Amino acid sequence: MPDIALLQALLPDTPLRAYAETTSTNADARAWLLAGAPHGSLVVADRQSSGRGRLGRAFVSQAGGLYMSLVLKSDLPAGVLTTLCAVAVRRAVRQLTGRELDIKWVNDLQENGKKVCGILCEGVWQGEKQLGVIAGIGLNVCQRELPPELRSIAASLYPDSPPPVPMEAFTAAITRQALGMLPEAPAHMAEYRAACVTLGQTVQWDAQGQPMEGKAIGIDEAGVLMIETAHGDVTLGAGEVSLKRL
Ligand code: BTN
Repeated sequence: MPDIALLQALLPDTPLRAYAETTSTNADARAWLLAGAPHGSLVVADRQSSGRGRLGRAFVSQAGGLYMSLVLKSDLPAGVLTTLCAVAVRRAVRQLTGRELDIKWVNDLQENGKKVCGILCEGVWQGEKQLGVIAGIGLNVCQRELPPELRSIAASLYPDSPPPVPMEAFTAAITRQALGMLPEAPAHMAEYRAACVTLGQTVQWDAQGQPMEGKAIGIDEAGVLMIETAHGDVTLGAGEVSLKRL
């Protein structure tokens, strides 16, 4: 069970819900927002039984990972908030551990080419109006072993030793960074681009069954990726594709 007293002490103004296990903290935060949760409310869990990833994928959520969802009462697009959360996680990890994570467009943080964090920002709508966005973050902090099918592409930060600070310190630092950057968004984009290893790479993706390839040449203020291809430049939005690196 997350140490609620410690987390509340680190984030005294944050409305908080914490679980040993839940289906998905994003689902919990969404329901809480619809029931009136204020901006900055936070849901955390030690494990998720139905963790959600981008593009409808599952997100494996065993003990040892950090699973958190932040209620952001913002009308910024989910794509912009995804980039903001990536910078927030990067800053928090650097501040607490001295480690520098890379960003893989759009929502992954990596170390030595392996994914250590995924972000899923989901808009919550009431009719035409966006009530807010649920910013879900899964950070692999200290799982001893990831499932065999993930071991070649993902890693945890501390597989063999306890992390230098409690999990709650990561949660609090990420929350503070994200909430602190929000009023200035998209000012974080310069930092995002500087840390984004996708820029300059040749990437492949699938466009409605058609394999595509090009060179990533830019990311705009909305987090949209610009790609130069043999047939001209194309743009890819946050919710659209999964990139393969060549
Ligand atoms: C991805 O890598 O595709 C995004 C993964 C996002 C996972 C986090 S864990 C906390 C929150 N709750 C969820 O169900 N998903 C997000």
